[in-house]
Amino acid sequence: MSKIRVCVAGATGWAGSALSRGIFAAPDMELVAAIARSHAGQVLGEAIGVPGLSTPISATAAEALKVKPDVLVEYTRPESAKVNVLAALGSEAHVVVGTSGLTNDDYRDIDDVARQAKRGVLAVGNFAITAVLLQKFAEIAAKYIPHWEIIDYAQSSKIDAPSGTARELAARLSKVRESQLDVPLDAMQGPKESRGVRLEGSQVHSVRLPGYVISVDAIFGIGDQKLILRHESGTSPEPYVTGALLAIRKVGGLVGLHRGLDSVMDL
Ligand SMILES: NC(=O)c1ccc[n+]([C@@H]2O[C@H](COP(=O)([O-])OP(=O)(O)OC[C@H]3O[C@@H](n4cnc5c(N)ncnc54)[C@H](OP(=O)(O)O)[C@@H]3O)[C@@H](O)[C@H]2O)c1
Repeated sequence: MSKIRVCVAGATGWAGSALSRGIFAAPDMELVAAIARSHAGQVLGEAIGVPGLSTPISATAAEALKVKPDVLVEYTRPESAKVNVLAALGSEAHVVVGTSGLTNDDYRDIDDVARQAKRGVLAVGNFAITAVLLQKFAEIAAKYIPHWEIIDYAQSSKIDAPSGTARELAARLSKVRESQLDVPLDAMQGPKESRGVRLEGSQVHSVRLPGYVISVDAIFGIGDQKLILRHESGTSPEPYVTGALLAIRKVGGLVGLHRGLDSVMDL
């Protein structure tokens, strides 16, 4: 069986370097290209301390895509992600998006291009299994409980808010229904910002503080009862590797945009 040829954009970063190690160790994958600006021209193994990993690092997607990978994983930053995804689709690669901060408009554009190119894009706000399960359980809860709010927590240096996890959760719950507000935002007293942002029918609050990594609460309330679903990750990027490897294996069977890892899991 031929190996899946993978390019990782953001291969020297916190998440991308852990994934690159995982791909290097995976028997069914080959890491054929890597993208990062500050280590461009170097070999990835030297940049991230993996002996024997000889993948060259390119500064741009255009350069890296010359080796025609089957799959590009986007793990850079919100401002470079869309350009890299569209470049990959233009090069006939399938795409896994781990980067957060892309908007629904970005994803609509990406879906159009992916369908025209007959390529798959799998965008996953959070590859960790406990986050994937939270999304699934929250969808079930929203069928029975009409009131909920989402709180996302991250380190103070995270530049995008709400997090990809919170955006994806709001998008998914909007397909069930909109959360009910007993006091509409227009009727409330005090600054409306205190109620968070209304995102696709959910109230979403983002906390950015030193000491936090990535966690999210989906809080449901109904007549004298509460359900609090919480995903909490530790400080290592390891929880994201297994899910991202699964996404790389599955994305080649997709056409157009698909959101959430459970779209390729048997849940
Ligand atoms: N979906 C998930 O489960 C999940 C998990 C973890 C993180 N994330 C998201 O993934 C993204 C990356 O997170 P991180 O913590 O790994 O960030 P990071 O440590 O800052 O790494 C970013 C990587 O992207 C490269 N990069 C940044 N801008 C670039 C550009 N314009 N062109 C080419 N390369 C560029 C960086 O290298 P240079 O600066 O040298 O270019 C570095 O290799 C964030 O959006 C984060 O929220 C998602």
